[in-house]
Amino acid sequence: MIDTNYFTENKDRFLTELLALLRIPSISADSAYKSDVIAAANFIKDKLIIAGADKVEVCETAGNPIVYGEKMIDPNLPTVLVYGHYDVQPAVPLELWETPPFEPTIRQTAIHPDGAIFARGACDDKGQVYMHVKAFEMMMATQTLPCNVKFMIEGEEEVGSTHLGPFCIANKERLKADVVLISDTSIIANDSPSIDCGLRGLSYVEVEVMGPNRDLHSGVYGGAVANPINVLAKMIASMHDENNHIAIPGFYDLVQNLTDKERAALNEAPFDLEAYKKDLDIAAVWGENGYNVLERTGIRPTLDCNGIWGGYIGEGAKTVLPSKAFAKISMRLVPNQDSETITQLFKKHFESIAPAGVKVIVRPHHGGEPVVTPIDSPAYLAAEKAMETTFGKKPIPTRGGGSIPIVALFERELGLKSVLMGFGLDSDALHSPNEHYGLFNFYKGIETIPYFFKYFTELKK
Ligand code: BES
Ligand code: MN
Ligand code: MN
Repeated sequence: MIDTNYFTENKDRFLTELLALLRIPSISADSAYKSDVIAAANFIKDKLIIAGADKVEVCETAGNPIVYGEKMIDPNLPTVLVYGHYDVQPAVPLELWETPPFEPTIRQTAIHPDGAIFARGACDDKGQVYMHVKAFEMMMATQTLPCNVKFMIEGEEEVGSTHLGPFCIANKERLKADVVLISDTSIIANDSPSIDCGLRGLSYVEVEVMGPNRDLHSGVYGGAVANPINVLAKMIASMHDENNHIAIPGFYDLVQNLTDKERAALNEAPFDLEAYKKDLDIAAVWGENGYNVLERTGIRPTLDCNGIWGGYIGEGAKTVLPSKAFAKISMRLVPNQDSETITQLFKKHFESIAPAGVKVIVRPHHGGEPVVTPIDSPAYLAAEKAMETTFGKKPIPTRGGGSIPIVALFERELGLKSVLMGFGLDSDALHSPNEHYGLFNFYKGIETIPYFFKYFTELKK
């Protein structure tokens, strides 16, 4: 079905184009990169037009623009809505990159003997979005697009998709489809394909602990005035009990427990604990008692401090009792928790455990709801069959630990289920220094996507 000639003749160009996209530092968290964010949106727009999409548009929002495009070949055929994001995480700390984050280079790794592209966004998500653009180009050029397709590629996924929700609600008609197809997740390994059938939700808060009205001499006042950093450290430490359960009252109330059968199915995924520890250079894993790594990252909620600051961090010693301390804290949520409730529970608890000598402020950031996607729908079965065709192995359903906040809204507002047909690896260093994406994975994605379209169209008939 795949036109191997077209693929072979154009695959080098596909890669060259992706490298050009990766050179644009479209970091959504930092407004200094606004013009690059717009440049990345325009890059996608141009490539969709060249590939043959209609009604291609860079849609303005109050934040970063959304790239839309479509190819409607017949209203009676099914429609696939492809979603992805062209924005990337910040690249700092830069000194930990072996090659600069926005100067993509290709080198081999133990896991990627065919080579991997090293660049911020290579895997998350530009490399994976670009597979769709090129698969579409290929289907158009070889006249094998079997159904309708719509593209919606946004620029704020890494900062909570704030403006995509309102855009979807305002564009319900334009976004009408049968399923959302997303490549922004991982497979277990290159010889072990899998499809995520769940994503965790997210509550994200920033906390501030305020002590005395100014920084103080730690000799003159230390010991007599609560130190906000000491207090904050103790408060954060108290968020997990001795079993590493989260100590916020009510936190687990709505958590859906898996049946024994579901739990057994989840644990059928191959997992090598020794290799996992070796990859991360850690002597032991950590987590909630009673659960293993796959469960801790797939079906259990978590709480992590993402950053903590305050006081003097310059060179040498400054004997100071700081006036304030801060932290950013994230909680990953599972069905049926909801981010609003969890944020409120956190706030109430965090404020209640503050000692009398300090004031505490909890500032909620963006959130996202957990989702579980069906594994018996035509779209899932199409993805399964497509991957089986190109990998030579049936993919295993897995639960992804990360979040894609908009997926719950697709379901709630557009009535659309998603299929998470990702091709990255968890070890591809997403959000970390030296992010990369295997050439094998990039090309495998381009080959697999047309099969998804074919099988989905057939199964929907
Ligand atoms: N692509 C990831 C999510 C992901 C990665 C899901 C691997 C499953 C497996 C996405 O870009 C991401 O990083 N999401 C953020 C969401 C947040 C910024 C609102 C996350 O999970 O931290
Ligand atoms: Mn992503
Ligand atoms: Mn990401």
